[in-house]
Amino acid sequence: MDLQEKTAAARAVQRCILPGCRGSFGIGERIYVCPACGGPLEIDLQLPAASEAPALRKLWETRAGSQEARDLSGVWRYRELLPFDNHAQLVTLFEGNTPLYDAPRCADYCGMKALRLKHQGCNPTGSFKDTGMTVAVTQALAMGATTAICASTGNTAASLAAYAARAGLQAGILVPHGQVSAAKLAQSMDYGAVVIELDGNFDDCMRLVQQLGDDASIYVANSINPFRIEGQKTVSIELMRQCDWRVPDQIVVPGGNMGNSTALGKGFEEMRKAGLIDRLPKISVIQAEGAAPLAQLFTALPASQSAEDADLPEALKMVAKPQTLATAIKIGAPVSWRKSLRAVLRSDGQIITVSEQEIADAKAVIGREGIGCEPASATTVAGIKKLVASGHIRPEENVVAVLTGHALKDPDYVSHYHRGTLAIDRGRGPEMIAGAFRNVPQRAEAKKAAVLKILEKKS
Ligand code: F0G
Repeated sequence: MDLQEKTAAARAVQRCILPGCRGSFGIGERIYVCPACGGPLEIDLQLPAASEAPALRKLWETRAGSQEARDLSGVWRYRELLPFDNHAQLVTLFEGNTPLYDAPRCADYCGMKALRLKHQGCNPTGSFKDTGMTVAVTQALAMGATTAICASTGNTAASLAAYAARAGLQAGILVPHGQVSAAKLAQSMDYGAVVIELDGNFDDCMRLVQQLGDDASIYVANSINPFRIEGQKTVSIELMRQCDWRVPDQIVVPGGNMGNSTALGKGFEEMRKAGLIDRLPKISVIQAEGAAPLAQLFTALPASQSAEDADLPEALKMVAKPQTLATAIKIGAPVSWRKSLRAVLRSDGQIITVSEQEIADAKAVIGREGIGCEPASATTVAGIKKLVASGHIRPEENVVAVLTGHALKDPDYVSHYHRGTLAIDRGRGPEMIAGAFRNVPQRAEAKKAAVLKILEKKS
């Protein structure tokens, strides 16, 4: 493949997605929104010719057996679809390479014949953010940045902290005080980031980051940055390899700031344009009921809504005070909503909500598979159950749910669920969330007979 030999600048531009603008800018420009109109940017990449698809698939397969750092990474292995040239100094923790599991108990729970879980929580810092962060921090280094910052509900922060540490950059993370799980915050502290806890919610942190990004010394690592999306899109390629290039019918992801759904949509579309796949899977996004601005917008769209850029709604009504125990997706004003909506509409997917109860029970069912995930990830299985019930997913369809974070990201939630003390306070006092799949530890005397009695009781 000679595409990588061309300079990155010859292969890609940053392009505004707004139809009235479509402005294009060099990939070396440190911009996060269109300098002409303020619209969202995406990387517009020269794709390999469809005639090269068989050779490309073979090349990626061969690289999976190589010990070279850029081949070991489950992101950089697919560098023909990334806007870098061969000389880029990569910042990698060997991200990607995450498992795709069969989940028969989840399938049963959802009323499906089969269901598979792509566990992005098995990345180096325990969330899907690493696949984007390796690319964003590599670009930060290429741009000569010395400080990279992000707003975060915890996972982006942990990921940026780790990759910045690898690169020798300062990481500044802005998190809403008291609203991030202790485990996630501990990661950022451990990786040496400057942790700034702000009075406000995630959306306040995000607004501040956008202002700070005007400062020439600061590089913004949120998914508003189109390079993050480039890394995250490679998950779709890895998934297709795992599926032996047979396209699943539907992919279901949680929705927060909407980078993940945007990235998967872009990945599948580029693969289709490059002749690597012949159709798109439906991409559906699941939001928590109390933090669901895009689901609200989606529900209000006319049945005739097209996916054309020019027809997309102009604005999103934000949720001022988002509420959910799935703190990773406690977001009321997602920055990538337009790109995400476009990806869902283009693929004929859905955007729906699930309740706190549905998230909590789905999470426990996933746990019973021997596969832990954090609450936000469990929106997928909860959402699939609803989509099966509403007829949007047929029981025999080939469906993949993307789990985005590891169970150990939020152990307090898990413990409260199983002990029966999980509660959400929406400002009206705590509302208990009863667990249909509770598994309470049992206290016993330190005697064989006492333990046997408990074990017999359970069998
Ligand atoms: N799942 C997990 C575990 C997350 O951490 C996030 C987002 C999402 C899902 C939603 O993905 O934003 O791409 O739609 N976490 C961000 C953070 C906001 O700061 O860690 P999205």
